[in-house]
Amino acid sequence: MSIVNAKEILLKATAGRYAVGAFNVTNIIQMEAVIEAAVNKNAPLIIQTSVTPSKFIGPKVFSAVYRTLAESAPIPICLHLDHSTDAEYCKECADAGYTNIMIDASKQVFGENVRQTKYVCDYVHNLGSITVEGELGTVSGVEDQIKVAENEAALCDPDKAIEFVEKTGVDLFAPAIGTAHGIYKTKNPKLDFDRLKIIFDLFNGKTPTIPIVIHGGTGLQPDVVKKLISLGGSKFNVSTDLKHVLIDSTYDYISSHRDEYNPGKIDKAMKEAIIKRIESWIDLFGSAGKA
Ligand code: 13P
Repeated sequence: MSIVNAKEILLKATAGRYAVGAFNVTNIIQMEAVIEAAVNKNAPLIIQTSVTPSKFIGPKVFSAVYRTLAESAPIPICLHLDHSTDAEYCKECADAGYTNIMIDASKQVFGENVRQTKYVCDYVHNLGSITVEGELGTVSGVEDQIKVAENEAALCDPDKAIEFVEKTGVDLFAPAIGTAHGIYKTKNPKLDFDRLKIIFDLFNGKTPTIPIVIHGGTGLQPDVVKKLISLGGSKFNVSTDLKHVLIDSTYDYISSHRDEYNPGKIDKAMKEAIIKRIESWIDLFGSAGKA
């Protein structure tokens, strides 16, 4: 009952003008922590794995743990493959039980991005209730195996956005609007809010149809996050922040317990730190109580 694809929870979020947190995890304890936080907040949830951790743990293992935990959770939860540039790996994860797949062909020329995104959509939609995210324009920064220099980044062209969505059959749309993966160099990165509004209205002006994804959540100021949500962003991606919480909380625990050799206690300290951080993101996204 709690296993859902991304589109169904995001259409509701789009209509209600809140965002569902899409949190990248690298291991099973993080996955448990993220779910526990969302249950505490009674919030819908998207768990994401980038390609490297997905391959390291294995898509079947991630999916099996997700399904076991989600089936008994009282909230809707989606498992999303993040930024796969490999269409065949997208298919493998969909076969393994992921419920949302991102094919990221945004570095390719437009026609090739369309071709690869459509290829994944056609395959995945045939499997049943699994949805697909595509990206147009390029988001700068580093996300797992993808690196985009600032001078390579290109914002999404709204005219091309309509053509992209129509030709591919994609379910969620990630337009590049100036956000970046990783740590921002400045406190106030230059974001194109007007472009976001135009693109949102193209697809969701009258009725929510294609939910809009915001990449690069880490480091955005709370008022900026709220503005992006008010303009229609309904899937909000956070990754780097959670990596920092994991590493810092582990380091802090070990540093202050140098004579203790009890891995379970390190895991517990890390898990508690992640739960706390996810709860604060959920409060910021306005999704508490929306499960
Ligand atoms: P951050 O690492 O900047 O939070 O970005 C996350 C993201 O967009 C994952 O797709």
